[in-house]
Amino acid sequence: SMDKPNIVTCAAPVNIAVIKYWGKRNEELILPINSSLSVTLHQDQLKTTTTVASSRSFQEDRIWLNGKEEDITHQRLQSCLREIRRLARKRRNDGDPGLDSTGLSHKVHICSVNNFPTAAGLASSAAGFACLVYTLARVFGVEGELSGIARQGSGSACRSMYGGFVQWIMGKKDDGKDSLAQQVEPETHWPELRILVLVASAERKPIGSTSGMQTSVETSCLLKHRAESVVPSRMAEMIEAVQRKDFTAFAELTMKDSNQFHATCLDTYPPIFYLSSVSQQVISLVHRYNRHYGETRVAYTFDAGPNAVIFTLQQHVPEFVQLIQHFFPSDTNGGQFIKGLPVNSASIS
Ligand code: PMV
Repeated sequence: SMDKPNIVTCAAPVNIAVIKYWGKRNEELILPINSSLSVTLHQDQLKTTTTVASSRSFQEDRIWLNGKEEDITHQRLQSCLREIRRLARKRRNDGDPGLDSTGLSHKVHICSVNNFPTAAGLASSAAGFACLVYTLARVFGVEGELSGIARQGSGSACRSMYGGFVQWIMGKKDDGKDSLAQQVEPETHWPELRILVLVASAERKPIGSTSGMQTSVETSCLLKHRAESVVPSRMAEMIEAVQRKDFTAFAELTMKDSNQFHATCLDTYPPIFYLSSVSQQVISLVHRYNRHYGETRVAYTFDAGPNAVIFTLQQHVPEFVQLIQHFFPSDTNGGQFIKGLPVNSASIS
């Protein structure tokens, strides 16, 4: 019947930045002060699954996150809904015959579930908004460039629209039209690369990325220096390291960039601390391990939380996991677990 809902389900993976995004030049459009680069994880590991139903019988748009109804008037959620409907309307006006024009006025019910702790600094918003935008696009019959819309949900979400190695080009324009994600290399490019996620704490982070970035932009001159004078050349070096599959260069740039990001957090006033003592122990362990072998075999990176993400090559995984299990037995530090992930396969599907 006409009242039969249109239902689409998609899953999107988390991405881990190796050149960090921190700081906006435009809050509303979510335009960053520097470009960034990330690795998209494998779909089956850390992911968000979103189901969107649209029906003419729905009275209003509604959303449930991990089973709990949330406020649909949330500004960034509204941006994504508005932009997808705008594209759908444009497509209908351009006369696409494949588009069911009645669907445009339909309200949607959105259900989104993470298979990992929300807001623990594990890029939950990235997978969440990427998945939301992609699923909505399917429901409304919209195709093409969608990373600019995902960006307006959460900056880092634009990078989860692609698999493999992805850069978010900051762009120059005031309207944000050139602030988009772009795949640098596909998921098949570097099959030996492995990612380990060490969950040091599944608690919600004390300071969210939105307010943390605001304070950093307002108060940290180190952040200004980083955005203007460090990241541009570092992006170029990182892209080259990825293209050459040069693990040493990739690992060292990754660690240095994570450290500089956390240094800008400390340079923020009042300061922001995302790293815990466990994080610091992981950092020390990685450097000791690399020094022991006289080569860089393992790298760490940390986002807005204490959980470590480790990059290494396939052949070093068993030994390094043993080392982690030895120094961080899983019943201490509030429930720790290790996920050994193959790197990045396809993105959203
Ligand atoms: O997209 P947001 O607002 O969740 O910010 C993400 C910021 C970092 O995770 C710390 C860095 C990054 O580039 O993902």
